[in-house]
Amino acid sequence: MADPKKMSVADILAAARKKDSQGGDAPAVKPEPPAEAAPPVEASAPDAAAPAEKPKPKPAPAGKMSVAEMLAAARGEKPGAAAAPAAKPAAPKPEAPAKAPVAAEARPAAAKPAAKKSEAAAGTVDTSSILAAARTAARPGPVSKSEAVAKVAEPAAKPAKEKIVAPPMPAKPVYAQPKAAAADEDRRSFLAVMLGTAMGLGFASMAVVGGLWSLALARFMFPNVLTEPPSRFKVGFPANFPPGSVDEKFKAQFGVWVVNAEYNGQPQIVALKSVCTHLGCTPNWLDGEQKFKCPCHGSGFYKDGINFEGPAPRPLERYAIRLADDGQLEVDKSKLFQEELGQWSDAACFVPV
Ligand code: FES
Repeated sequence: MADPKKMSVADILAAARKKDSQGGDAPAVKPEPPAEAAPPVEASAPDAAAPAEKPKPKPAPAGKMSVAEMLAAARGEKPGAAAAPAAKPAAPKPEAPAKAPVAAEARPAAAKPAAKKSEAAAGTVDTSSILAAARTAARPGPVSKSEAVAKVAEPAAKPAKEKIVAPPMPAKPVYAQPKAAAADEDRRSFLAVMLGTAMGLGFASMAVVGGLWSLALARFMFPNVLTEPPSRFKVGFPANFPPGSVDEKFKAQFGVWVVNAEYNGQPQIVALKSVCTHLGCTPNWLDGEQKFKCPCHGSGFYKDGINFEGPAPRPLERYAIRLADDGQLEVDKSKLFQEELGQWSDAACFVPV
């Protein structure tokens, strides 16, 4: 077998693992190297055990050396670094030879600072570094949370880096076109129109009501304005009213008949009020019968306005009439003349012809 002092650290570790797997009896990890490395321990033992005068600890059997002992033996390549830590633990527990492996395992831990210093000085690596390097390939060991997340995300990120050029999709036939989407679109548009229409109607109704209220307020704020026709109006020249004629042109607008008739044997043009003296109905001129006839209760009036039948108690009334400066007849509805009161004799209620 190769000399342990000339074996590399990797070889020693391989031999140690093989020995551990075989229960410590593997011939490849025979105790020669550690046994030869033991002398420094025995040489230093008297120094450590002398004060206590205890039995010298026997070196561990070569076939039962642990990995730590082998590592310690491997470090024996530098006697100054390996001998010092090996002697220290031997003194405190000399009476427990059976526990030698445990003590031997404790030795490297106690001798770490000195070994590290010597290895650093020699440009070598420590045991932990060697073990870490040996375990790294097979067992990466626990990782931090961030590293685990990165490892989980790493496979997902890889496909993204790959540029996969997908082939173009074949054109869909007409029957495969998304008709459902069009139906949904129509439905949505219908709902939108309905809702919009309802809201629009609501707002339009509110606007109409508001406008009506505004108009009512404006009408309330302004005074009433009479839209009645003027009380004075011209009806034309006297030649337009021949003798015996009854003109109804102004009945609808002004409530006046312009009549050219005789009253008490005097021909004159008068303006008769078209209101029945019974209860206020509007009589009609019956040209065939040459009379005014009230449709309500049958009162009848002659052409000059004198009542002669029906319940009417008195003749029709006259408005004031005169010749204006332009020669036209002008009627003034602000003045009334009643025959039963003898007012028809007033020249203001007729124009002699
Ligand atoms: Fe004209 Fe009665 S209102 S007859």
